[in-house]
Amino acid sequence: SHLHDFLTGLPKCEHHVHLEGCLTPKLIFELADRNSIKLPDPKDNPAYSSPESLAERYGHFSNLDDFLGFYFTGMSVLISASDFEDLAWEYFKQANADGVHHAEVFFDPQVHVNRGIAYETVVDGFSAACQRAEKEFGMTTKLILCFVKHLPVDDAHRVYNQALESGHFEAGIVHGIGCSSSEVGPPKDMFREIYSSAKSKGIQLTAHAGEEGDPSYISAALEIGSQRIDHGRRLIEDQQLLEYVVKEEIMLTLCPVSNVRLRGVEKIEEVPIRQFLDAGVRFSINSDDPAYFGGFILSNYCAVEDAFGLSIQEWRTIAENSVRGSWIHEERKLELL
Ligand code: HPA
Ligand code: ZN
Repeated sequence: SHLHDFLTGLPKCEHHVHLEGCLTPKLIFELADRNSIKLPDPKDNPAYSSPESLAERYGHFSNLDDFLGFYFTGMSVLISASDFEDLAWEYFKQANADGVHHAEVFFDPQVHVNRGIAYETVVDGFSAACQRAEKEFGMTTKLILCFVKHLPVDDAHRVYNQALESGHFEAGIVHGIGCSSSEVGPPKDMFREIYSSAKSKGIQLTAHAGEEGDPSYISAALEIGSQRIDHGRRLIEDQQLLEYVVKEEIMLTLCPVSNVRLRGVEKIEEVPIRQFLDAGVRFSINSDDPAYFGGFILSNYCAVEDAFGLSIQEWRTIAENSVRGSWIHEERKLELL
């Protein structure tokens, strides 16, 4: 539509993108080759015949867990710090081209540590790319350590202790904590101890909730101390909780294209953007796993515009709310507003 040029130029903040979700089929095959990692046998899973067949398969996810199988297999090709750095750098270049001025990005160290990669290797690579984005693009960046709900909680505790011992939080190298992966099934409050400890240390907290799970997953996340809600699409089903979220100015990090690709909704029009805007729910619009869902942040903005035909004023409100919900100092917020 006619607003696409305006949306390209609109200064954006991204708060919900998984760096491992930026791994393209092409890069998966290249890194598997370079690092001698065996991908699944195409006889067992024909999607792994070629980068093209893998990309084609990504167009047919049946739900969150179907996607997660490919996502966790994909990231098994990442070995060296430079693999992690190159991956994140590809994201930052695209984000810069999409008009992102500030990016808070998730990474899944628990999964890498479990397959024998050192926690430090992961953070060294990702943080090198963050520094380069700050220097070359003037972008501000924050790394968010994301725990996963499908692995034993003891693994999360081990990685959390490693992260504390590394001094990364105090040094501002890792800024916040999140949690993701399978939503319905694992206990809603499985990271209660970690969140409570992190809160006492002033570490910022967010959590995936209300993507596939009902609004009780959102209230559980808030109850253990989450300051934001990643996705939170299903907040629309609980009016009382919605009013609380508005009053407390809790930001949702919506990912509309992801919701369609993982079949939470049939089309973008079903994401409750209009209701959230009218009710004064703060939200940002984000890409989630761009290499798997076929679009970076700008294509999410454009898909929302095509579905809802928002006004320029409404877009300015969305952009402003995404600055206000960012984990940055007042001074930087004023620069971005
Ligand atoms: N939901 C849950 N876990 C995830 C996602 C998601 O969209 N992307 C990467 N891990
Ligand atoms: Zn996500």
